Amino acid sequence: MNRNQHPGRDGASFGEAELSALRNRVGQGMSPKRLIHTLAVEQMTARLCALYCPEETDLLRAAALLHDITKELKTEEQLSLCRELGVPVAPGDELAPKCFHARTAAALIPRKYSAFDHPVVVAAVRWHTTGHEGMTLTEKLVYLADYIDESRTFPDCVALRNLFWDAHPEDMAPEERLSHLNRVLIASFDMTVRNLVAEGQIISPDTVMARNDLIRQSVQAGDGVQ
Ligand SMILES: [Fe+2]
Repeated sequence: MNRNQHPGRDGASFGEAELSALRNRVGQGMSPKRLIHTLAVEQMTARLCALYCPEETDLLRAAALLHDITKELKTEEQLSLCRELGVPVAPGDELAPKCFHARTAAALIPRKYSAFDHPVVVAAVRWHTTGHEGMTLTEKLVYLADYIDESRTFPDCVALRNLFWDAHPEDMAPEERLSHLNRVLIASFDMTVRNLVAEGQIISPDTVMARNDLIRQSVQAGDGVQ
């Protein structure tokens, strides 16, 4: 195994060739529109990794490629996949159907993409939609890449993309760069909450916990709250 390859839970490893094969494989199971987004998330993830954790680039590129593999399933199909994979479903979960795909995609990785069954990959896929309290750096990067990839034209996504890059994080010292990431994430959770309220939809408690946690950390670090 060379230094660019990563062990899966079962001892499998992957590098550029496996990522290329994964790109082709996921592309066969989704619409052209979803594939454009997926590839753009992979590219944005790689850009973010270059800033924050170059050593995790391949793992997070795999997570980016896998994050939406079940996004286009209907709610009924998501529910039956949850039953098949043993993913717990609580009463009322069907009111937030967009949250299912992160859980079903994460659960599918060990079954169908075992070469990529690595805790960093699975966690980044699992939490890319809602976030959660105590997010790791790698979870944050895939979450943000999914929000601001270059294929996104929704005004909030464009605003968040500009908020992140216009501050020139590449010129920041490492600590300031991490604070900047957290500030942008808080802004993203604010946008999500506002949109869900405007649409009369339920808000995942994980999203609220993620937001509160980052604000708490920001205050403790003396960054204040925007
Ligand atoms: Fe996505």
